[in-house]
Amino acid sequence: MPSTVLVGTQWGDEGKGKICDLVATDFDYVVRYQGGNNAGHTIKSGNKKFGLHLIPSGIMYENVTPVIGNGVVVDPHVLLEEIDMLEAAGVTTERLKVSGNAHIIMPYHIDLDGASEKRLGKNLIGTTNRGIGPCYQDKMARIGLRIQDMLDENIFRAKLAVALERTNDVLEKIYGLPTYTVDQICETYLPYAERIRPYICESSLLINTALEEGKNVLFEGAQATLLDIDHGTYPFVTSSNCTAGGSITGSGTGMKYVGRILGIMKAYVTRVGSGPFPTELDFETPAGEILTQVGGEYGVTTGRRRRVGWFDGCIARYAARVNGLTDIALTKLDVLSEFDTINVCVAYDCDGVRYNTVPEHEVAFDHAVPVYEELPGWKTDITGCRSFEELPQEAQDYVTFIEKLAGTRISIISVGADRSQTFMRGWK
Ligand code: GDP
Ligand code: IMO
Ligand code: MG
Repeated sequence: MPSTVLVGTQWGDEGKGKICDLVATDFDYVVRYQGGNNAGHTIKSGNKKFGLHLIPSGIMYENVTPVIGNGVVVDPHVLLEEIDMLEAAGVTTERLKVSGNAHIIMPYHIDLDGASEKRLGKNLIGTTNRGIGPCYQDKMARIGLRIQDMLDENIFRAKLAVALERTNDVLEKIYGLPTYTVDQICETYLPYAERIRPYICESSLLINTALEEGKNVLFEGAQATLLDIDHGTYPFVTSSNCTAGGSITGSGTGMKYVGRILGIMKAYVTRVGSGPFPTELDFETPAGEILTQVGGEYGVTTGRRRRVGWFDGCIARYAARVNGLTDIALTKLDVLSEFDTINVCVAYDCDGVRYNTVPEHEVAFDHAVPVYEELPGWKTDITGCRSFEELPQEAQDYVTFIEKLAGTRISIISVGADRSQTFMRGWK
């Protein structure tokens, strides 16, 4: 199994956690490379179900070393809570590694996230309010604090003082919010440091040494292609590179090791937060209600109801391009079993211009009117199918139709939330 990047191809929540958990057993390392606890990845095996926000989905296997890479932003409180939750459930976190170069989410990042959204008013992004954007902002502004800074109290205090000098001004003068002192933050963060210390490592060195020894790595993306800071529906995006390229910078690995890029694609589309969504269905329409209720489309992180819509072939084609997909895992096909007919968007009409991909210009995408093709439904429960041939003909046709639109092989198909409700179609 060559080293593989696993990425979301839509606006998140495609089932990355499930597929990552499923294939992780074939890898030696599973590495998160971007985002933070804005992610919510669900894994389900038998009667065990976990919603993971920071810890890589490979944690379930004893042969896998899970790594939080340098490109991730880490809220230490959330990390420790997640470690405790897993340990209490009998899952050992002993093998977990955290990059010393990962940036730390501070309490003021969360304050600023909320305040900035409030200030945006009706133009708000609809963030998860976890401090992700402000933390990445400080990273780029070069006043961020990193996990390694926690290892030395003097360094931590000195860097925090520099950050607070600027941040307190913003909190107080721009947003009228309370400010922080170095002592106040140290009181909670220094004890975190002691607990996190055993997990800290030089992750780029660790991963590359393993790769040179012939080990293989699964890079677990969070968020998704259209939430990517460069390739997503800016400004309604997150603040990191969620696309495949982010796996390289977010882990300190060479491109030469990556053999496969697996896009996770839901059989329809959902979105949480604001921004354009051409195939969106009003959740009060019968089709919208089916997707929401049967699909259980409520966020793992914030509990918000996800917006839902028909499968979008323009997005699939775009995701194949900007990630260089070699394979697709199609998820939640079972959710479509209720429909007599299923719409698939094959193109957009944007102010009289026809597109078969996501247009670069934001205004064109905003005005995109989907061109649908109507496919027959299969109206049969498929959650027990364990091979492509067992699927009803209409479901097989739906899969091959999507495959053609994306121009990429669908090599994994998921027909239920459980690890066992999946089958391979050429994934080796
Ligand atoms: P992620 O963020 O991409 O990991 O996805 P989430 O975990 O946020 O959301 C996916 C949801 O769909 C979770 O509740 C999963 O348990 C569930 N799920 C995953 N694959 C399937 C599937 O094939 N069928 C059904 N019905 N549910 C699935
Ligand atoms: P997983 O990994 C779906 C969305 C938020 C908001 C935008 C910016 O579970 O697929 P942020 O807090 O990141 O600054 O919010 O991005 N968002 C997600 N939507 N799934 C996610 O993660 C998301 N992470 C962030 O709703 O629109
Ligand atoms: Mg999710």
